[in-house]
Amino acid sequence: MITVRVPLGERSYDVLVGHGVRAGLASSLPAGARRAAVITQASIPLDCDPGIPCERLLIGDGEQHKTLETVEQLCRDFARMGLTRSDVVIGVGGGMVTDVAGFAAAVWHRGVAVVHVPTTLLGMVDAAIGGKTGVNLPALDGVGGKNLIGAFWQPRAVLCDLDALATLPPRELRCGRGEMAKYHFLTGDDLLALDVPERIARCIEIKAAVVATDEREGGRRALLNYGHTLAHALEIATGHEIAHGDAVAVGLVYAAHLAHHLGRIDADRVQQHYDVVRGVYELATDLPADVDAERLVQLMAGDKKVLSDGLTFVLDGAAGVEVVPGIDPTAASAVLASMAASGQQ
Ligand SMILES: NC(=O)c1ccc[n+]([C@@H]2O[C@H](COP(=O)([O-])OP(=O)(O)OC[C@H]3O[C@@H](n4cnc5c(N)ncnc54)[C@H](O)[C@@H]3O)[C@@H](O)[C@H]2O)c1
Ligand SMILES: [Zn+2]
Repeated sequence: MITVRVPLGERSYDVLVGHGVRAGLASSLPAGARRAAVITQASIPLDCDPGIPCERLLIGDGEQHKTLETVEQLCRDFARMGLTRSDVVIGVGGGMVTDVAGFAAAVWHRGVAVVHVPTTLLGMVDAAIGGKTGVNLPALDGVGGKNLIGAFWQPRAVLCDLDALATLPPRELRCGRGEMAKYHFLTGDDLLALDVPERIARCIEIKAAVVATDEREGGRRALLNYGHTLAHALEIATGHEIAHGDAVAVGLVYAAHLAHHLGRIDADRVQQHYDVVRGVYELATDLPADVDAERLVQLMAGDKKVLSDGLTFVLDGAAGVEVVPGIDPTAASAVLASMAASGQQ
């Protein structure tokens, strides 16, 4: 078992990584918790024993259930159970479950402890770490969006039980691999030298270090969005047909090409992006054939009508990955066009 500390002063906590670490759930709960609400989904096979009286509360599967309505239902269940502020909520699932469980815990009695047991690779290396919780605002009269309602609410502990990955569908594994590929470029260290559990732990450590310097996303935390500017645009343009990890994979090589186009990195470094994304994580890097490049640039600009201020990207460079504002939309589309052209060869 590997333990990674998320250093956040009095909100610090441990992330346990390894096969079977869920056996330590009872000892990861806050002292004094007398009952637990275990939030999960029907399709998640991982069994967890909190060692105190508990109730298993099932939420729906899919982003359409990541809503205030689901949180309200959970709060009704908490009320029925008599869950007090000294009790505990446990989220057992992917990022959808831990985001919802974390948010429900943040608002119940103005905050009750939450422990996460992420069961997807993406949940382990990303969603369950760092305290961002929330739900979507479903579109109504043209307004709405993902994760618009939320709170920063750090968990008390996170248990990444690698046993969970055995049942994860291929698409979900690709989502996690896309995030892991991202971490290869956020620091100078060689993640390839590590075995898989060590690498997952190192990804968590990298995220923890970024979160520790910017808990509430004032600046540095944006680096975790490396590869995500194009990824989000691709997800919207394809109506979420493309999996997040596949979109991030394309987004990472796009960010490398853009950085190269702007003279920030050399061709070898671009090649390293292909080597990691395609070679190590076995993710495709071609732009989907049927998406319109101009629409993607508009989406990357946040659908702003006027692009005169330029676009903001997270880009690699001599000083490492950093936030770079003021990028000419013409450069952004030229790089898309050359990637599309090379993909068709
Ligand atoms: N809070 C953050 O910092 C953060 C970061 C990244 C993503 N997110 C959020 O995370 C969500 C995506 O998370 P995700 O990719 O884990 O998707 P998800 O939670 O929707 O899970 C994907 C699917 O896998 C199933 N599943 C989960 N674990 C399983 C297992 N062990 N075996 C079999 N099936 C299993 C789920 O039931 C679901 O159908 C999004 O809502 C996103 O906004 C949050
Ligand atoms: Zn992501």
